[in-house]
Amino acid sequence: MTSPAPVTLADAPLDMVIFGGVGDLSLRKLLPALFMAHSHGNLPEPSRIHVLGRQAWDEATFRAFIEDKVPPFIDAAARTPDAWARFVARLSYLMLDATQCADFAVLGHAMQPGSTRVHYLATSPGLFTTICAHLASNGLIDPHTRVVLEKPLGHDLASARQINDEVGKHFAEHQIFRIDHYLGKETVQNLMVLRFGNTIFEPLWRSPFIKSVQITVAESVGVGSRAGFYDSTGALRDMVQNHLLQLLCIVAMEPPVSLDPDAVRDEKLKVLRSLRPMTVSDVARDTVRGQYTPGASGGEAAAGYLQEANVPPGSGTETFVALRAHINNWRWANVPIFLRTGKRMAERRSEIVIEFADLPFTLFPDAPRQPVNRLLIRLQPEEHVQLQMMAKEPGSGMRLRPVSLKLDLEAAFEARRAEAYERLLMDVIKGRLTHFMRRDELEAAWTWVEPIQNGWATLDEKPRPYTAGTWGPAASSALMARDNMAWVEEA
Ligand code: BG6
Repeated sequence: MTSPAPVTLADAPLDMVIFGGVGDLSLRKLLPALFMAHSHGNLPEPSRIHVLGRQAWDEATFRAFIEDKVPPFIDAAARTPDAWARFVARLSYLMLDATQCADFAVLGHAMQPGSTRVHYLATSPGLFTTICAHLASNGLIDPHTRVVLEKPLGHDLASARQINDEVGKHFAEHQIFRIDHYLGKETVQNLMVLRFGNTIFEPLWRSPFIKSVQITVAESVGVGSRAGFYDSTGALRDMVQNHLLQLLCIVAMEPPVSLDPDAVRDEKLKVLRSLRPMTVSDVARDTVRGQYTPGASGGEAAAGYLQEANVPPGSGTETFVALRAHINNWRWANVPIFLRTGKRMAERRSEIVIEFADLPFTLFPDAPRQPVNRLLIRLQPEEHVQLQMMAKEPGSGMRLRPVSLKLDLEAAFEARRAEAYERLLMDVIKGRLTHFMRRDELEAAWTWVEPIQNGWATLDEKPRPYTAGTWGPAASSALMARDNMAWVEEA
């Protein structure tokens, strides 16, 4: 598939339209990210941000709402009164019911002539196709228009295809920005550099030199106020289908021929298509579902999932998933890939662990029985890369101990680190598609994930309980222990 780069008009004004503009994502992430881009002089001039909502608000009510809701999500030091006042002046509120075609006329009047238009759909995916159709009927789509689709993009393959088909009737593929905010994280982008900007790893980055790969995205928070969305979604669809598989793609892909969006996305697609499909017996053996029960988090008592607000009694939704995957290609033959993610885990931590092969033979009888070389890439909350090596303990004899070479990326660079949404929004404005999912990638991810969801239904697999504030159900450790391996859990 090819996606020509969208045309970005030099010095064109910007009209950024946020559907769902007074919703949670907009207030917590999008408007703060746009503020940061604005305060660093990165928005085109003039830029207008049209915040859409259904409330019949006048200008004063809208401004009071913004003043109240957005600042808590902006670094206080960055929010100087002058920068903030100039940012707020860029905002305008438009009352619009996305289901009413006639309401879109107001948007037409608000657009600046010759502008780059970005329609950010921060709404439920159920509205995506209606919004695109109404934009088209109101003549609001031209070759410079972009649409940004927030996840979840469907809840299975069929629904994802349907959204893609409908959106595709009005926008060419190169105008569609399917966002996965993990691809905007500095450390995730740095993974490409670690692999392809250095010579020492790539020759070893394969079977049989790599014994296993672990990818963990652990959150300490619970479901919070999002049960309405989360309970019908679960951790597999919320995190594995997108964020974890995207991380896996970057870890496992072949070197792309260039950094062009399609060159990168072609390689990621090959990884997704090489994932070994799971049969029902694979699902029974190689996956673990969990759900948190009351415990503690950050030294405070934490409710269990079933006690959280708006969770239906007896809900069988998983808040934790661990699984063992395989990539059917030469590079990754026989290398188990372990993925896990969960809410209310022991701490917030996202990391990738590359475990290198065991020594073929040991000269040192006193060497500890443990993995020798391991590369640990911590994505958040800290950003570092650690290479574990064996070294001789000082003293008589040949006693070995693991020690680490540690590269602290935050200390190594003083430059400001933009949040993922800021970086991705700038990509949308500039028409850069590399860090967005192409249609075929999204569908390949669903193709692999769907049999897992179906397998759980066939097996009537109930989530296993785990205490809030722990690393998940015991079965997750057992999954690795079967291969004589263990999750890396030390700090
Ligand atoms: C979102 C999920 O995509 O990612 C949330 O819907 C999750 O459930 C969040 O909490 C995690 O993102 P981050 O950037 O905090 O790791």
